[in-house]
Amino acid sequence: MIGIIGAMDIEVEKIKGFLTDISTETISGVNFVRGKFDGKDIVVAKCGVGKVFAGLCAEAMILKYAPELIINVGVAGCLDETLKIGDIVIADNVCQHDMDTSPLGDPIGMLSDINIIKFPADKKACELFADCAKELCLPYSIGTIASGDQFVSSADKKKFITDNFGAKSCEMEGGAIGHVCYVNNVPFAVLRAMSDGADDGAKMDFPTFAKMAAENSTRVIKTFLSKF
Ligand code: ADE
Repeated sequence: MIGIIGAMDIEVEKIKGFLTDISTETISGVNFVRGKFDGKDIVVAKCGVGKVFAGLCAEAMILKYAPELIINVGVAGCLDETLKIGDIVIADNVCQHDMDTSPLGDPIGMLSDINIIKFPADKKACELFADCAKELCLPYSIGTIASGDQFVSSADKKKFITDNFGAKSCEMEGGAIGHVCYVNNVPFAVLRAMSDGADDGAKMDFPTFAKMAAENSTRVIKTFLSKF
């Protein structure tokens, strides 16, 4: 079983659409759509926006479906100046840019107790995503994806995230899904298409380009699932 999580309908609707033999169930308010694609068992869920929704969805998915891999898919703000709207960022690791116990002497972003800042994504999935982006002629870059419970739309916040985490992209779920997968020992991957530049223009760009970007991420996922 491969699990796929997106925050919004536009990020998962088309993926659900190419599944066959569909069944659904709702757990903790999240609708899980199970089906088949290319002979593989897939479960897809729309988790809602933000780290708590994403974390609870990943936990429920792991406990109920025992996926061998969880993929977080969708759109994100671009922090990599070499990329344009619609291009792809593949996580080799994820972090939570709004986690901060630095007044107690910890590094910014460190999760207390487990003492981790960056959760490594599955290497094989990351490499296969890169092959798929290449095959589809979609420009891509591989690096840190930083998550936080905020829509990033200022130069100052962008600089904070790039300075502290060297991230290539920012969004609101991948770091929580990586965290939940890490503590459950489940491999994960995050694939995002750029919907905006996470800057002053982001509140205009996001509604304009999110759908197109989500379509690009869906194309990469479909290719990935046929090769996995
Ligand atoms: N998802 C898409 N664009 C984003 C942004 N600028 N900040 C956070 N999440 C996003």
